[in-house]
Amino acid sequence: MESAKLYSLPKLPYDYNSLIPHMSEEQLRIHHTKHHQAYVNGGNSVLERLDKARKENAEVDIKATLKELSWNIGGHVLHSLFWNNLAPAGKGGGGKPTGALNEAVNKEFGSFERFRKEFTQAASSVEGSGWAALSLDRLTRRLLIMQIEKHNTNVYPTLKILMVLDVFEHAYYIDYKNDRAKFIEAFWNIVNWSEVNERFQEALK
Ligand SMILES: [Fe+2]
Repeated sequence: MESAKLYSLPKLPYDYNSLIPHMSEEQLRIHHTKHHQAYVNGGNSVLERLDKARKENAEVDIKATLKELSWNIGGHVLHSLFWNNLAPAGKGGGGKPTGALNEAVNKEFGSFERFRKEFTQAASSVEGSGWAALSLDRLTRRLLIMQIEKHNTNVYPTLKILMVLDVFEHAYYIDYKNDRAKFIEAFWNIVNWSEVNERFQEALK
């Protein structure tokens, strides 16, 4: 995937117009080619700066550099997961979890409806910009919802991320203006449960 020890923008597994009406072509295209690309470029530029400084044995503001790197890598990794846990509505997107994931969701949350409510609340209440993520704690084999601020705050180390929802304004502003709740509602129509279930099975190994 990544080449020359730098990051690169992954291709989407569907066309820019295939998530309509839940996500417009313009919204998706700008989000992918401008915003996601900016994290890829940002991460690469920090790495190149570090490489150069190390080669020249020059001073670097490590605290600021690592913060910038974490923001950009977090953004790149989360967006890459996000695109792949979406699919066109009715063609792999929407409905309910399947297989082992369905069982695990029912066991942990009591029902899909309860899970959906908690995940929606997590996404709605992220302060400022951030993400809601469904994840698996392999120590306890429990599903946990993470509320990630920015791309990198409140992340639990080692938890395997199974599904994410981007609630940065740049993810929905063109389509829904400031109505984040409406975007979250639409998200459920384009969740690729088969992909999320595969990630779950992989994480259990
Ligand atoms: Fe985003």
